[in-house]
Amino acid sequence: MLVTDSDRLQADVVAIVDRHHRDRSALLTILEEIQHCQRAVTPFAQQVVADLLHLSPSQVASVVSFYGFLETQPRGRVVIRLCRTISCQMQGTQRIARQLENDFGIRFGETTPDGAVSLGWAHCLGMCDRGPAMLVDDHLYTEVTPEQVHTIVADARRAAGLPIH
Ligand code: FES
Repeated sequence: MLVTDSDRLQADVVAIVDRHHRDRSALLTILEEIQHCQRAVTPFAQQVVADLLHLSPSQVASVVSFYGFLETQPRGRVVIRLCRTISCQMQGTQRIARQLENDFGIRFGETTPDGAVSLGWAHCLGMCDRGPAMLVDDHLYTEVTPEQVHTIVADARRAAGLPIH
């Protein structure tokens, strides 16, 4: 029997939902795990989750759209999120953003053509007195300077097994 990409994606989602005993109260955790596994919670994955948990697709979609950390399109292998809330803005977010966009040749909301790095915005990361704050995958950096960006990103690329430019 031919196994398609959709079959594989569906099997991954089923395994994750089953690991949580098809418990609706674990919906957010399930969605986070799907994103970790598939680098996004696509409309297809949302539909599979909705079917398994007996929810409507719009209920699942509303959770996905509410949480800024959940994406509907595949992200890069390294995801960089820069806080753009007011305290960080006052401490230099725009300079960091320009440095990142120059380094990667993409704008915020985009992924590099090789699928390596995505740039995105975050809302307050709870480090307002130590801005600008930036998340690189699960690692939080504070008081980031443009000069530190190269090192931080190189470390993240190394951790993800990507070549260092
Ligand atoms: S405003 Fe950026 S961490 Fe709070």
